[in-house]
Amino acid sequence: MAAAIKKVGVIGAGQMGNGIAHVAALGGFDVILNDVSADRLKSAMATINGNLSRQIAKKLISEDARKQALARITATEKLDGLSDCDLVIETAVEKEETKRKIFNELCAVLKPEAIVASNTSSISITRLAASTDRPERFIGIHFMNPVPVMELVELIRGIATDDATFETAKAFVTKLGKQIAVSEDFPAFIVNRILLPMINEAIYTLYEGVGNVEAIDMAMKLGAHHPMGPLELADFIGLDTCLSIMQVLHEGLADSKYRPCPLLVKYVEAGWLGRKTQRGFYDYRGDKPVPTR
Ligand SMILES: NC(=O)c1ccc[n+]([C@@H]2O[C@H](COP(=O)([O-])OP(=O)(O)OC[C@H]3O[C@@H](n4cnc5c(N)ncnc54)[C@H](O)[C@@H]3O)[C@@H](O)[C@H]2O)c1
Repeated sequence: MAAAIKKVGVIGAGQMGNGIAHVAALGGFDVILNDVSADRLKSAMATINGNLSRQIAKKLISEDARKQALARITATEKLDGLSDCDLVIETAVEKEETKRKIFNELCAVLKPEAIVASNTSSISITRLAASTDRPERFIGIHFMNPVPVMELVELIRGIATDDATFETAKAFVTKLGKQIAVSEDFPAFIVNRILLPMINEAIYTLYEGVGNVEAIDMAMKLGAHHPMGPLELADFIGLDTCLSIMQVLHEGLADSKYRPCPLLVKYVEAGWLGRKTQRGFYDYRGDKPVPTR
């Protein structure tokens, strides 16, 4: 039997966290949005407001729906503000150590019957679940970026996830108007298992001088009908997230074909993480993005 979800906690107010808070609030759920950074919380609320307004301009929602959605979201820097949530979705940085630490602190304050989910792009749900006090009530709910626009959500059961948790997550995602693809718990699941090696290969293509940024992105847009070029997409996802996913694939599947491109490693080491830091394969500081190679 699916449990009734009324209040949803979201941990991490980055690009995914603000999107998940947005669609959950619009779907009628009360949302508690948490981040360690007060600045990130502030900018997440501004982004949500801006994206809701954009949906009004496109006549997708009414002004009333925007007001109600905003009123349903509470921002907090304190994890214990999430104690009475029915479902908590962790969407902080793609680092297993950080996620484990969050689950440790969260489970100490969260009501025992609540479900805990991770929006991880690649990390084992079974392993994350085992770091909590409730592996049977733990599940992967993997949203796509940008959350308000993308239709798909992957659901991933860990080995211990029980049927009620799966049904509850399914009902929650359906209420958000999203389609579900069920994935087994393998590194990077379905979408990123296919997408990230393609992006990594595009970075190798750049690294080896086969083409420059503009040529590679144009080739895949016009030659393969992709809506965004792979390097543009990497910048959009975040190069740190791309690298973490490739590392999980490389280590988890123990196959050299997943080796992260050294150029991707170098960009992340430089702090050039894509759109979120204004510089990645493109420079975003001007009116329009300028290729950097
Ligand atoms: N970027 C994508 O396209 C995408 C798509 C699907 C899933 N994901 C996954 O979603 C998660 C978040 O990615 P993102 O792109 O939103 O990253 P991001 O860098 O935009 O945001 C991460 C946020 O987590 C916060 N944070 C860090 N440690 C925290 C803690 N201990 N407690 C609370 N908040 C903390 C940071 O302050 C930041 O605001 C990752 O696991 C990523 O793999 C990303």
